[in-house]
Amino acid sequence: MNRTNPIGFFDSGIGGLTVVKAVTRIMPNENIVYFGDTARVPYGSKSNETVVEYSLQAANFLLRKNIKLLIVACNTASSVALKELRKFLTVPVIGMIEPGAKMALQESRKGIVGVIGTRATINNKAYTYELKKINPKVKVYEQACPLFVPLAEEGWLDHKVTSMIAKEYLGGLNEKKIDSLILGCTHYPILSDVIQKVVGKNVKLIDSGTPAARLVEDYLNGRQLRNLSVHHGQSEFYVSDVPTKFREVAERFLGKKITHLHKVELDELTNE
Ligand code: DGL
Repeated sequence: MNRTNPIGFFDSGIGGLTVVKAVTRIMPNENIVYFGDTARVPYGSKSNETVVEYSLQAANFLLRKNIKLLIVACNTASSVALKELRKFLTVPVIGMIEPGAKMALQESRKGIVGVIGTRATINNKAYTYELKKINPKVKVYEQACPLFVPLAEEGWLDHKVTSMIAKEYLGGLNEKKIDSLILGCTHYPILSDVIQKVVGKNVKLIDSGTPAARLVEDYLNGRQLRNLSVHHGQSEFYVSDVPTKFREVAERFLGKKITHLHKVELDELTNE
């Protein structure tokens, strides 16, 4: 494995870009290859078996791009497919749940933590399990917010509909007096302004992207795999459906032009 090989990321759509942003902030010289499964988004309302299958396909696609490490930039896939990915892959695999849970416990003052995520992540209780493993006394309240994903994919970041839906979803958590809120879906940081307004400024929003990026940095440093280039890394993006909307929302969110964006045929993922 070479230091200049790219870091691989995958998500069901644009959500994983929140993790890309965190990684490139800390390690701007790393090369990146990203796969967004926009033809099959959302993952969060699908069965565990389907999410495992799609995750393995995405990971194998990225392996063919010679990635040195895989970031599962999707909480749904992290909560149901991490074990399988680690079993079959020859590269290290970093998920979202553990770094997000650790950060929430560091930031929480009263030990009352809210978690929002897709139906799959919430039904699997991935965060409750991880939080209680570290601190059995922590109080955890979870809430699925499935409509946040299409709102983020649509780029409705400051729309009144997004605000109404956020109030509906988050009202119950506000009553529980949570002091920190894990954004347990990588799409949600895209909507963080609206979410913060609804929960109030005293609730700390936890985005797994930054702690996951730090974990990746430590991992690469520890194995002499950090890119030593003094130049900015190359970023390549692949999506499984027409890239127009992806480009628009991604460029707005990342604040830069995306030059290498390609469509992957589903056959290429499914026929190996
Ligand atoms: N962004 C993903 C997550 O973190 C998936 C959302 C979805 O496709 O439902 O869970």
